Amino acid sequence: MTILVTGATGHVGRAVVDALVAAGQDVRASSRDAAKLDVPGGVAKVSADLEDASTLEPALDGVSAAFLYTRPQGIEGFVKAAETAGVRHVVLLSSAATLQPDAAQSPIAAMHRVVEQALAAGAFASTALNPGAFATNTLGWRADIAEGAVRTVYPDARIGAIHERDIADVAARILVDGSHDGESLALTGPEPISFREQAEVLADVLGRPLRFEELTEEQAIERMLAAGWSPEVPRGVLEAWARTLHEPSLVTDVVREVTGHAPRTFRQWAEDHRADFS
Ligand SMILES: NC(=O)c1ccc[n+]([C@@H]2O[C@H](COP(=O)([O-])OP(=O)(O)OC[C@H]3O[C@@H](n4cnc5c(N)ncnc54)[C@H](OP(=O)(O)O)[C@@H]3O)[C@@H](O)[C@H]2O)c1
Repeated sequence: MTILVTGATGHVGRAVVDALVAAGQDVRASSRDAAKLDVPGGVAKVSADLEDASTLEPALDGVSAAFLYTRPQGIEGFVKAAETAGVRHVVLLSSAATLQPDAAQSPIAAMHRVVEQALAAGAFASTALNPGAFATNTLGWRADIAEGAVRTVYPDARIGAIHERDIADVAARILVDGSHDGESLALTGPEPISFREQAEVLADVLGRPLRFEELTEEQAIERMLAAGWSPEVPRGVLEAWARTLHEPSLVTDVVREVTGHAPRTFRQWAEDHRADFS
């Protein structure tokens, strides 16, 4: 039984490869450019573009389960190729945005929902993983941290920042045992943590003082656009963060329920990624 991991150069995909290898599985890793893949020995490498159906047939040949990144363009081609290959289960990296009350107005929810629905209609089992904000988002603070600062909007917005290895552990468990067919799993870290608190943890783990500077909403949007975000996305993200200033942020116990272990803390994430900030 071979398991295909798409996006194996990505933070989550790479962690899924590791979790499957640790579970003794036969793994095939894909990227649009297989030469970029840095995976453990024994893991097969293949080039596949989710937006180019002609590349998917060879990638899916002999595959029984697949970990999929959300790419709305090309999802029909993926579903067809997966059906032809006889794939039994697809686990999708979706987003908590599709589970939010404002999902109908959210462009982030819309792009993930298209893919969730296409998979649900496919002739195979499927499971959507719907994580909230990733702890890896703080890698976007690296340039500021190099200057001794953390600059964000809403310092006291609290998110259930999740470690990519927890998403990966959930994915690997389901890819191996074929459970949770038809389910959407809301995944979070263990506790809501504010941006200010994340900065304090990073300062402590990195062993250097970091001054906190609050950005205006306009400054935050400008930075997101400069970092390559699609123009329709930043407003919705800011609204979601702002909501946590007045409402309790969502934290779930799904990571523990699926994997049997507690989700990792933001401090654990910072310790695992210390070298990324040097
Ligand atoms: N950041 C958050 O807070 C958050 C919250 C909820 C959900 N999410 C979901 O998680 C995703 C980001 O995950 P991540 O942090 O692991 O991403 P990442 O590290 O930025 O990696 C993105 C991956 O997508 C692959 N990819 C891009 N276009 C592709 C295509 N056309 N065909 C095949 N592969 C393609 C890339 O592979 P190559 O470049 O090697 O081809 C790369 O491996 C978001 O897009 C969203 O769907 C994120």
